[in-house]
Amino acid sequence: MQRYDMFIDGESRKPAGGEWFPTDNPYVGAPWAEIAKGGEQDVDDAVTAAHRALHTGPWAELTASARGALMRRLGDAIAADARRLAELEVRDNGKLFTEMFGQVSYVPQWFHYYGGLADKIEGTVPPMDKKGYFAYTKKEPVGVVAVITPWNSPLMLLAWKIAPALAAGCTVVIKPSEFTSASTVELVRLFHEAGLPPGVVNVVTGFGKDVGAALVGHPLVRKITFTGSDATGRHINEAAARDFKHVSLELGGKSPNIVFADADLEAAVNGAVSGIFAATGQTCIAGSRLLVQESVHDEIVGKVVDLARTARMGDPMDEHTQVGPITTPAQYAKVLDYVAIAQQEGADLALGGRAAARPECGSGWFVEPTVFTGVRNSMRIAQEEVFGPVLAVIPFKDEDEAVTLANDSRYGLGAGVWTSDIGRALRMADRIRSGTVWVNTYRAVSYLAPFGGFKDSGIGRENGISAINAYVEEKSVWINTGAPTGNPFVLR
Ligand code: NAI
Ligand code: MG
Repeated sequence: MQRYDMFIDGESRKPAGGEWFPTDNPYVGAPWAEIAKGGEQDVDDAVTAAHRALHTGPWAELTASARGALMRRLGDAIAADARRLAELEVRDNGKLFTEMFGQVSYVPQWFHYYGGLADKIEGTVPPMDKKGYFAYTKKEPVGVVAVITPWNSPLMLLAWKIAPALAAGCTVVIKPSEFTSASTVELVRLFHEAGLPPGVVNVVTGFGKDVGAALVGHPLVRKITFTGSDATGRHINEAAARDFKHVSLELGGKSPNIVFADADLEAAVNGAVSGIFAATGQTCIAGSRLLVQESVHDEIVGKVVDLARTARMGDPMDEHTQVGPITTPAQYAKVLDYVAIAQQEGADLALGGRAAARPECGSGWFVEPTVFTGVRNSMRIAQEEVFGPVLAVIPFKDEDEAVTLANDSRYGLGAGVWTSDIGRALRMADRIRSGTVWVNTYRAVSYLAPFGGFKDSGIGRENGISAINAYVEEKSVWINTGAPTGNPFVLR
């Protein structure tokens, strides 16, 4: 079995505790590699290296333009190896090769875009209101950043965090998900082959309660950026608050995908299916609540069920496969639990609702695409994130009711609106409380467009120019150009 070590201070590093743990291939339902089990000592080594690289040595001395040029080379290095990295991700998280290759091939754009931004992080010269003073502002790297990532899209979500962090001049310590660490270790190795100085990007693999908690609590870490569950996000936020650390949190959702009777119904059906069955529903932006206007409810449900019924399951490496396995045994159990909960709550099962026993699914952790109708928005199946291929369909009468249902959620990450009425599209976009609203499309992301959550879906935005602000401290510098020093006992 292949063994993955950590990467600290520019070199491959064995865990101080001398232990490795297995990581599974969800399609086979068995381990395929071993990952270094990091602990407090490894975290301290990595943070110390990152802190040193932040203040001394080649990274600290690079001009912003040179930093940007280096970042563009990192992007090129990823592009050159995208196929191998995507294959690693598929082996480790079971998502489709077509999806992961698409994502990994897109990742270089984050390094090109934020590399381009590295020398445009400008300060200001405020027009002073006091005579005899000149002031300017500058933006400095916030410090060592702890980057904690989940298993569903390991490298893409990592890029969303480390590209702006590096552009801002920060150094980072990454803690990838214990379920999908291999691609991150390989990426960091690639970065060093491409000329990244030691200590700038470090990776400590292991478990959340050991490595994650130690990173969050480390006194030299100034910022934590996290994507994952709201439970862990809350924990991190509380721990970070004790030491006044900066946090960015992206915590998933229960996103409404809203179909009006005036929509292009074929497109809406495609959007509904892509919202919940693409990526086997294991995505923070899953359109897990399908809100359908009453007059087209039965037609939409019929078409969604027909399309989902024919989805091909099986080997995620096969380009014809449409629905792959669930990444972890715990997640597999959780998805099946929610199916049982929905049935106890009185929802009607219109499709699926069980583990897939198809021969092409082998011994992998597959759940049949599942559709529940007759769902009330107060049910747990409509309020809690399942993170699997389970759709809850809820009918609505009119625009007002659609808005009320959409916003009756503690989450607010994404929303889809399907309509041919531009006025309605704009009204809905105004009224829905979520970080992203897609009109007549779903599940689109870009390095250019800010992404993040309202309410329990998180704190802060990733992507776009303003994401850089999450990785800088702004400083004001005041210079007396001739103002009298005067009375020392009053504010100047
Ligand atoms: P998680 O939120 O526990 O894990 C995410 C990352 O946080 C992993 O790297 C993990 O090791 C780390 N972590 C865990 N405990 C930590 C702690 N105390 N301090 C610091 N880091 C810690 O999520 P998990 O267990 O992988 O999945 C559970 C649920 O989370 C899923 O069922 C799904 O609902 C949700 N989820 C949401 C994602 C999103 O994109 N928003 C991604 C993955 C999962
Ligand atoms: Mg795995």
